[in-house]
Amino acid sequence: MEMHHLLIVSVFLSSLLYGDAGITSSFVRSEWPAVDIPLDHHVFNVPKGYNAPQQVRITQGDYDGKAVIVSWVTPDEPGSSKVHYGSVQGKYDFVAKGTYSNYTFYKYKSGYTHHCLLSGLEHDTKYYYKIESGESSREFWFVTPPAVHPDAAYKFGIIGDLGQTFNSLSTLEHYMQSGAQAVLFLGDLSYADRYKYNDVGVRWDTWARFVERSTAYQPWLWSAGNHEVDYMPYMGEVTPFKNYLERYTTPYLASKSSSPLWYSVRRASAHIIVLCSYSPFVKYTAQWHWLDEELKRVDREKTPWLIVLMHVPMYNSNEAHFMEGESMRAAFEEWFVEHKVDVIFAGHVHAYERSYRISNVRYNISSGDRYPVPDKSAPVYITVGDGGNQEGLAARFREPQPDYSAFREASYGHSTLDIKNRTHAIYHWNRNDDGKKVATDEFVLYNQYWGKNIRRRKLKKKHYIKSVVADLIAN
Ligand SMILES: [Fe+2]
Repeated sequence: MEMHHLLIVSVFLSSLLYGDAGITSSFVRSEWPAVDIPLDHHVFNVPKGYNAPQQVRITQGDYDGKAVIVSWVTPDEPGSSKVHYGSVQGKYDFVAKGTYSNYTFYKYKSGYTHHCLLSGLEHDTKYYYKIESGESSREFWFVTPPAVHPDAAYKFGIIGDLGQTFNSLSTLEHYMQSGAQAVLFLGDLSYADRYKYNDVGVRWDTWARFVERSTAYQPWLWSAGNHEVDYMPYMGEVTPFKNYLERYTTPYLASKSSSPLWYSVRRASAHIIVLCSYSPFVKYTAQWHWLDEELKRVDREKTPWLIVLMHVPMYNSNEAHFMEGESMRAAFEEWFVEHKVDVIFAGHVHAYERSYRISNVRYNISSGDRYPVPDKSAPVYITVGDGGNQEGLAARFREPQPDYSAFREASYGHSTLDIKNRTHAIYHWNRNDDGKKVATDEFVLYNQYWGKNIRRRKLKKKHYIKSVVADLIAN
């Protein structure tokens, strides 16, 4: 009953929100100063014991969710790279051995970063795992997703531009109360590049300890933002993404990608495509070729929900980063419309914004059709760059609100996408401040392939005929 009620309210809300005029929220928020949490704060505590594994994080390890990559750092010596795991707490039937590496960034010397693949897991199962380090071993757990199936329910969290301020902590704590099962992370992790020299590496370490309370227990699917580039010629560090790629890993080979920076996974009923705004993507580049192929591999009969992640939003009406997504829009928007992508999440702009289903694919530099128009095949574009980093909020929206913008507000928060079945998902943007609940953004997302269309009617008819036949046989 409660679910039914929620759906009715949501449908009503969505009909309001899809009306003519977009909403610019007038919510007055409170916030902590946009400065990083001091290094000696307990959120950055180093676990006790010699060479204790720290900065523990997991991510999906394969294409379909039957593998997990466990990553961590040992500070004093390499250690064993071994993870013991099993479905009964304290009784570990399996052991996997990973690899480790370390590196320098200016004069900063990193700890030993380990990546260990746990494969052949059962779906929908709770696993306990222990990272081996003698007396300092540490234990955690995670739950694998259901098997890939068109009606598999799953709740994703969406977080972007998190950083390590008290606002970031508030976002993380709010997210952890949401009941979501995995995070789609939209880039800009630590903001360590706001520091200089050895402090860059130090702040990459503190961020990973800060988020461990979530990342050790559920997968975060990573995408890279500009704060991952770390191009710092003044101290001789000119290898892009050096810190990020040493520390964070993705299952890119499983989706035939040539780079950890862009890849794809299937999880429950969703096919998630992760793109990199800061790697080449124009026609004939590796990322362009890969996306072309990957979109062809999407099977909406198996994974009805097609979700794309990128750092720079293609539709944004904030003064901050205005038009920065135009180059990727020019490269990929046509494909997103053609393939009926359900939703595209981006970060980068430190505010929240959602678009209507619009496209600008008719525009070209010699045509007169220069404005986005309503387009039922187009994705919804949602910017969730409001994790709460030290750069603060992007509070200046362009006026008047463009027609394509449905809802926008400069507050810190996160989103959840609660997929119920092949046709419906409940989307919610959660502002950190308690405020009034009605001003946050909530609606039912209908699936672009199955929802409200002929396939759904056909499916219903098929089920109806099946049940009539079953009744006849039973009688
Ligand atoms: Fe960014």
